[in-house]
Amino acid sequence: MKPDFVIIAVDGGAASGKSSTSRLVAERLNLMHVDTGSHYRAVTFALLQKGVGPDDEAAVAERLKSIPLSTELDGRSARIALDGRVPTKDELRSEAVNNAVSPYAAVPAVRQFLFDYQRAQADIARENNFTGLIMEGRDIGSVIFPDATLRVFLEADAATRAERRAAEGQSDSIEKRDKIDSSRKTAPLTCPDGAYKIDNSNLTLEEVVEEIANAVSNCV
Ligand code: DC
Repeated sequence: MKPDFVIIAVDGGAASGKSSTSRLVAERLNLMHVDTGSHYRAVTFALLQKGVGPDDEAAVAERLKSIPLSTELDGRSARIALDGRVPTKDELRSEAVNNAVSPYAAVPAVRQFLFDYQRAQADIARENNFTGLIMEGRDIGSVIFPDATLRVFLEADAATRAERRAAEGQSDSIEKRDKIDSSRKTAPLTCPDGAYKIDNSNLTLEEVVEEIANAVSNCV
């Protein structure tokens, strides 16, 4: 039976091409796009501002209690708002946030805080008449939507990933983040069993999008 709503989970390491790919797949298939990396970045930014470090889980949990989350649609992209404000791209992509986000994302209270919010993105996509949802991150196919229509895992070799960040003019410790993200106890970065793995080092963006669109049509 053809599902009336499609969910695509896209996971992969830093600079593996998740965002560019997901945005284009969203356009092609009329999906709402959610970048969960930006959720962890937004929380990191807020906690850094409040001076609450990732080692004090009780203080982190207490602080998060007072931060209401909401969603603003920007075309097909759903943006997280904390206390009614969507953080700017510069705030989310600063070197300070790049360096601190993995330690904060390893804190169970932070992941717990975002779990319901991320699951509820499917309702927002439905309410806004999208054909489905494409959500990218590290644990989407393993933890957030293990029931997704299609789970994709993107990979690229180290040189390709470094080139991508350099082209974006960003300073990012890709390998260090991947190491922390893959080795944490709660919801580590992993390729879930049965996920559709694509190494995109030698593929164009269009080829990857085509491959995912074909894989989705084989699932529905
Ligand atoms: O996708 P990104 O590089 O913007 O993600 C930033 C960090 O957020 C990443 O290093 C780990 C964390 N993250 C996570 O732990 N789980 C997710 N689903 C998405 C991101």
